[in-house]
Amino acid sequence: MRMYDLIEKKKLGQELSTEEIYHIIDGYTKGEIPDYQISALLMAIYFNGMNVRERYDLTMAMRDSGDILDLSSIDGVKIDKHSTGGVGDKVTLVLGPIIASIGVPVAKMSGRGLGHTGGTIDKLEAFPGFNAELADEQFIKQVNSIKIAVTGQSKNLAPADKKLYALRDVTATVDEISLITGSIMSKKLAAGTDAIVLDVTVGDGAFMKNKESALELAKSMVDIGKRANKKIAAVLTNMDEPLGFAVGNDLEVIEAIEALNGNGPEDLMTVVYELGSQMIVFSGIETDKTKAKELMKEAIASGKAFDKFVEFIDAQGGDSSFAKDTKKFKPASHIVPVNAETDGYVHAIKAEAIGLASMSLGGGRETFDDVIDMAVGIVLNKKVGDEIKKGEPICYIHANDQAKIAHAEEMIRNATVISPEKCNHMDLIIDIVE
Ligand code: URA
Repeated sequence: MRMYDLIEKKKLGQELSTEEIYHIIDGYTKGEIPDYQISALLMAIYFNGMNVRERYDLTMAMRDSGDILDLSSIDGVKIDKHSTGGVGDKVTLVLGPIIASIGVPVAKMSGRGLGHTGGTIDKLEAFPGFNAELADEQFIKQVNSIKIAVTGQSKNLAPADKKLYALRDVTATVDEISLITGSIMSKKLAAGTDAIVLDVTVGDGAFMKNKESALELAKSMVDIGKRANKKIAAVLTNMDEPLGFAVGNDLEVIEAIEALNGNGPEDLMTVVYELGSQMIVFSGIETDKTKAKELMKEAIASGKAFDKFVEFIDAQGGDSSFAKDTKKFKPASHIVPVNAETDGYVHAIKAEAIGLASMSLGGGRETFDDVIDMAVGIVLNKKVGDEIKKGEPICYIHANDQAKIAHAEEMIRNATVISPEKCNHMDLIIDIVE
């Protein structure tokens, strides 16, 4: 099989066979096919796409490029949850303990933040001593004993994706549905759970900027999951403004703890309940989503969900006294309001720019090697649809370096639209694909 011929085939919009796709992924993972030929192929896929059968083969070939976790020794229906990324997205921190406290086994592999979006692993490392690199046996043992474990992606999970993603990133071929489907679903399938609930974010701060493309991606991923015999659903959620009020690592952890104690922001909780009820239904513990949401509310009200969070942090070596007393998180040295310059209603607080403003304060990474300042970030005081008076804070900047405040403030002002007309709060749940 000549790589030249396979590129030519895709360039002409023809189908690649299962064998050809495996040959490409296998050869590239082993370093036998050079980057320049794969780059050309990626661009041909970008323009000509892949049909469902090709997408499935691509996903499976990428899954099979490394280890596949065997979770069969964990009792019950093991469930993973994945978000396509957002700003202020602390859903896993809240959702995981709630549903684990109801008895649903949560076996979750999470990532670190990059660019304007945050990552769950970074947030969990806010707890001193937290170990986010569990060995497979430890991961399985913990899910069996306390129903929840969260670990970083193991090194040999879908290695083809690591190479392909890096190449897509520098060849302007990231935003293509077949390639995104293969990338996300290969990792989810290699992670070995029985069920997957996808949070496909839509809007300014998301990967998918509009409903149509998000829906196409959601359908594509759900389709591949079903072909692989997984229980799978995708919830399209709004990411035009940050989720909740807090953006930045420690700040988001504190907000998540508040949520577990019954004081979560409405938008965050709407997403948590929607995803969680789907997970509970998949687990078989409850068949009705409304009743599943009630179970989740009870878990918060009774303190069971918070207790599970503490147990989970302890189990992974973290200092859970920070969860019991969030004042232990060292605040940033400067907390500065950004005040409204006019009366009116908030029409936009653009998520991507808020994420970038937090990153400019040191709260995010430009490259994987950057070190994060855990204390910095932005805490919103208003959400889209709220009324605001001149001089009232839109948000507070939490900074450790005074020199960075003016630039962050400018970014926030450019990201915020206040005008005299009334405006509705945002609808959080845009669509569900099952
Ligand atoms: N997230 C991934 O893991 N892969 C993509 O291709 C896009 C988002």
